[in-house]
Amino acid sequence: MVDLKRQYAGIKDEVDFAIHEVLNSAAFINGAAVTDFAKSLSAYLGIKHVIPCANGTDALQIAMMALDLQPGDEVITPSFTYIATTEVVALLKLKPVFVEVDPKTFCMDPKALENSITSKTRAIIPVHLYGQSAPMEEIMQIAEKYKVHVIEDNAQAIGSDYIFSNGTRKKTGTIGTIGTTSFFPSKNLGCYGDGGAIFTNDDTLANKLKMIANHGQSRRYYHDVVGCNSRLDSIQAAILNVKLKNLDAYAKARRKAADYYDEAFGKQSKITTPFRAPYSHHVFHQYTLQLEGINRDELNQFLGSKNIPSMIYYPVPAHRQQMFASFGSAQQSLPVTDWLTERVISLPMHTELEEEQLQYISSAVLEFAK
Ligand SMILES: Cc1ncc(COP(=O)(O)O)c(C=O)c1O
Repeated sequence: MVDLKRQYAGIKDEVDFAIHEVLNSAAFINGAAVTDFAKSLSAYLGIKHVIPCANGTDALQIAMMALDLQPGDEVITPSFTYIATTEVVALLKLKPVFVEVDPKTFCMDPKALENSITSKTRAIIPVHLYGQSAPMEEIMQIAEKYKVHVIEDNAQAIGSDYIFSNGTRKKTGTIGTIGTTSFFPSKNLGCYGDGGAIFTNDDTLANKLKMIANHGQSRRYYHDVVGCNSRLDSIQAAILNVKLKNLDAYAKARRKAADYYDEAFGKQSKITTPFRAPYSHHVFHQYTLQLEGINRDELNQFLGSKNIPSMIYYPVPAHRQQMFASFGSAQQSLPVTDWLTERVISLPMHTELEEEQLQYISSAVLEFAK
């Protein structure tokens, strides 16, 4: 699905140099590379504070811990997302409330969101799924109306812009109370191991997030709140420093590949190509088709027989996962989520796709669809 070997080949000298600098400094934890990366990422995103941490799941957990949510408080999330978004809600003894997504964008449906707000709602987690922003303007209006926090799960859309109705733009992850991301290797900005980060413009919240990520300490060995140990390694930060410089070029390469696929599948009525919302600059973490009248498993096998990987993100929506059985969420009716779960398939999408590969992949899909 990705070609990290070839991507590395293109930045090898810079990455190797950066790694060796860390090795020579022996500052493996909280070294200069981590501070430099946090600074560069905050400048890139246009946000005051970037707090690096160990992975995108921790980023979500730390964000929720910093908001002082109490057991039983309700947190609204889409069900059509990677499990991490919803899992941490339950882990913190909060109640996940699953809402429907828009059938075109796959992101949180603002009407469903507003209908799900109760007196116990404390936070909303929109997910910028597959590289496209959720409708943040409407989500923020609802959040302000009901005075609830917004945590943007930006693990799949770093580098993407939200375009406001007045034409101004903001990077996804910088609009809500807190934004989070993952630097898992296959992400648009990925390191060579695990990593994550939390963003905010709020100084008080930033201090709290930093403390929670560091055993709840404000100074060494004085622990004010219960926290956790969640750090980004210096080596990973050094790699990310190099890759951040290429992030916009990487997004451009992904969009070019998406344009090719769009053109190739445009006339096939059984295939719906990804919708590009006018309020979002799509960075195509995934290129995901919706199929109608095509057997998805057979297509997956057919592509596999031609050495073409394809993936189902996600085969089981969160509300139907066994881990949430105690919430009775499986009985909930989320027809769009269920519909998408049965029909989506993602094709290879990365920064190194060449025309020959795109042609081979799209021809195979079209051959099967026929
Ligand atoms: C939407 C979403 N949220 C959270 C995460 C969790 O990130 P990590 O794997 O770094 O913990 C991921 C990563 O796969 C993700 O796609």
